[in-house]
Amino acid sequence: MPTPRIDILTLFPDYFTGPFTVSMVKRAVARKKVDIRLHDLRKWATDKHHTADDVPYGGGAGMVMKPEPLTKALTALKRGRKKVKTLLMSPQGRRFDHGMAVELSEEKALLLVCGHYEGIDERVMAMIDGEVSLGDYVLTGGEPAAAVLVDALVRFLPGVVGDRQSVEKDSFFNGLLDYPHYTRPRFFKGRGVPEVLLSGNHALIEKWRKKESLKNTLAKRPDLLDRVELSGEDLKLLKEAQKELEAGG
Ligand SMILES: C[S@@+](CC[C@H](N)C(=O)[O-])C[C@H]1O[C@@H](n2cnc3c(N)ncnc32)[C@H](O)[C@@H]1O
Repeated sequence: MPTPRIDILTLFPDYFTGPFTVSMVKRAVARKKVDIRLHDLRKWATDKHHTADDVPYGGGAGMVMKPEPLTKALTALKRGRKKVKTLLMSPQGRRFDHGMAVELSEEKALLLVCGHYEGIDERVMAMIDGEVSLGDYVLTGGEPAAAVLVDALVRFLPGVVGDRQSVEKDSFFNGLLDYPHYTRPRFFKGRGVPEVLLSGNHALIEKWRKKESLKNTLAKRPDLLDRVELSGEDLKLLKEAQKELEAGG
């Protein structure tokens, strides 16, 4: 299977030095599970000063990213390649979430465009397949959004997270929030850990984790429960979780 490739077009390639040179993304790149290529948009701004922005037609505040360097860059980066999904980071886009991270992890070639200033010249949108938003707020540039997108989707690439189960038990994978976790020491500031986790009884531990996952979801994100399919056993556990929450636990 070919290594998935992610090209990122940005005015600030240095921005990614931090996020892409530590932890999971660094490991994924080192193990050739993903091929990430950063491109400085100014390379395609061919005037003396490598100008990538200009004043807006109609006047008003801010600058707009010029169409020529963007178009040249996108053309060059797509040339000779069959299917490259080109996404603009934008507060006006589809909100990024677990489902989209899984969906994008199945793409073989992504091209992420990071806007800046007031955004890009609207005519470049003809070369964009979709817009992705990190959330309902405005960032200074698309770089943090691209870094988040890459981090989240890399976790779903085969062979990146050593223990696949750890990804599958994370929040949202099965539509619920994760259960609480504990590690040593057994007592910390006068508080122990739930006895069941010390029992060695895997069936009981799994049942406890499922109930705690339902409880967490009910307490923190009850909206998720409207969208998830629960078995008869899950519904029983949910009732117990609700009672425990009402009793303050
Ligand atoms: C200052 S913003 C421009 C916002 C634009 N004038 C608007 O209100 O829609 C500059 C760039 O940051 C990026 N950006 C800002 N907020 C974002 C968000 N919530 N998600 C993804 N990208 C975002 C986009 O690439 C955008 O072109």
